[in-house]
Amino acid sequence: MDPSPVFFAGNAIAERNTTSGSRAFSESLYIKAQKLSESQIDKGMKQHWWKEGVIYQIYPRSFMDSNGDGIGDLGGILQKLDYLQELGIDIIWLSPIYQSPNDDNGYDISDYRSVMDEFGTMAEFDAVLEGIHQRDMKLVMDLVVNHTSDEHHWFQQARSSPDNPYRDYYIWQPEPPNNWQSMFGGSAWQYDEQAGAYYLHLFTKKQPDLNWENPQVRREVYDLMRFWLDKGVDGFRMDVIPMISKRLSWPDADYSDFNKVVEELYCNGPRVHEFLQEMHEEVMAHYDMMTVGEGVGIPPEKANLYVGKDRNELDMIFHFGHMFIDHGPGGKFDIVDVDLNTFKDIFTKWDRAIGNDGWLNIYLDNHDFPRLVSRFGNDDEYRVESAKMLAILLLSLRGTPCLYQGTEIGMTNVAFPSFDDYRDVEIKNNVAIWQKEGRNMETMLGAVHVQARDNVRTPMQWSADSQAGFSTGSPWIKVNPNYQTINVEADRKNPDSIFHFYREMLAFRKKHKALIYGSYTQVDGGRNDLYAYRREDADGSYLIVLNFTDDPISDLPVDNGYTWLTGNYPAPGAASDALRPWEGRVYRQSS
Ligand code: GLC
Ligand code: CA
Repeated sequence: MDPSPVFFAGNAIAERNTTSGSRAFSESLYIKAQKLSESQIDKGMKQHWWKEGVIYQIYPRSFMDSNGDGIGDLGGILQKLDYLQELGIDIIWLSPIYQSPNDDNGYDISDYRSVMDEFGTMAEFDAVLEGIHQRDMKLVMDLVVNHTSDEHHWFQQARSSPDNPYRDYYIWQPEPPNNWQSMFGGSAWQYDEQAGAYYLHLFTKKQPDLNWENPQVRREVYDLMRFWLDKGVDGFRMDVIPMISKRLSWPDADYSDFNKVVEELYCNGPRVHEFLQEMHEEVMAHYDMMTVGEGVGIPPEKANLYVGKDRNELDMIFHFGHMFIDHGPGGKFDIVDVDLNTFKDIFTKWDRAIGNDGWLNIYLDNHDFPRLVSRFGNDDEYRVESAKMLAILLLSLRGTPCLYQGTEIGMTNVAFPSFDDYRDVEIKNNVAIWQKEGRNMETMLGAVHVQARDNVRTPMQWSADSQAGFSTGSPWIKVNPNYQTINVEADRKNPDSIFHFYREMLAFRKKHKALIYGSYTQVDGGRNDLYAYRREDADGSYLIVLNFTDDPISDLPVDNGYTWLTGNYPAPGAASDALRPWEGRVYRQSS
């Protein structure tokens, strides 16, 4: 039997999916297109600005440098607000801008109430917030409260003596109570000389985990949330929020299945819902705001415990199903091949699990994962087509879409020749481990080219000028050498660009509310080349068909009851004409 065709493969020399000879399938495999009956339509689907809006994530360090020190900053963001308004997004999610020693680029916070010196001042933050609101956009901040920096004054106090009132803000043990590994490699327990004890860090050793069992810690968190909300911010993206409640019996982990360890030991601890409900009551209930949880380790069947409409916890989460899809038993640098059906099944399974009760955040890349066009598209011959097709996917699944900076111009992964060109602590830690274990470093470099978080952290490509117009100085991480052709200036000038396609699709989504609130049904019959689904509500029935290959696809589940509305190629002659390579179409069903 032929193995399933590879949709995207882990190694850099991945074979592209060629499914022109894919198994024959009959029309009957498709779920027959029908309008929902009155009783199937959920009239109770509550409307909210945070369901209708589209989020744009800014990774400030790499967005725009206004003072030539090579580091993106708030002044740079301010300069680009008009650009974001022109693009047509509604909500900006700002990765952390707080004071931080930058062991993990700001996800290690040493002061929650002040702005990182490299990024600017509080006055500049206020100007950015005002600028965003003036343009009718919203601002969502990153809330990183599973851990702090070890340079936070709480930790400095805590380590100083067992009697210090801050001692109990963190998690101390006389000896490591279990074999836990940090998410970035190495033991999760670090001995602290000064404290004479071990502390838990699920991330780097400069990110000690907070002790949420301590009510005083929780009060501190609610206070700092109110501090930013009272300034006028519109919500929070909550970093690794399923990790805040720990299993205090400290069970050992079996690392033959890392994802299982994350789900069953690091995340979804016994008090997580109690803590989130308390947070809701203390904070969220008092503001018109949105919350999106980084849903690491949440299995679909537990999702509505976090986001169900009567739970009073979070508004939405984003899951990791499609992000961990190519991670082998050894983790992200142990890459396995994936086929398209596995990818589609994840979205379908999650949509079903959430149903009409909760809400999802939809994304195809962010600051922690490779560029979507390099991962799920073809960033070579069909870069433009596949980036646009993925835009259709992103903006037509059920959930609030989030696009990451540079996605709107089809920025790609980078393949730096040396480990020295990389900046991410995750890579540094893993390189050290591979070296110690005497493993093949060429293989590691290949895996880094595919999986590195730095793939998406290279500077935003604004123009073909020096350093891609990002900085007049020398950037903290090298620019992707393809900036001469892939950049905002070039895309804005070209009416057929990915940038203009995003603008059109963002407007299209706003106009056709079924793409926001309508139900989702996958209808491609499990083909390995095509992804097709319907979105429908009382206002209409839409069919989305997406070609995930370099080849044409004929025999579509489309007849003359369908009208082509939009897509990433010129309109087809007849609705049922074959899809061109990486073509995506949105149809409306007339009867
Ligand atoms: C989240 C962030 C990631 C960070 C980690 C620790 O996963 O998205 O960038 O390294 O949490 O804060
Ligand atoms: Ca700067």
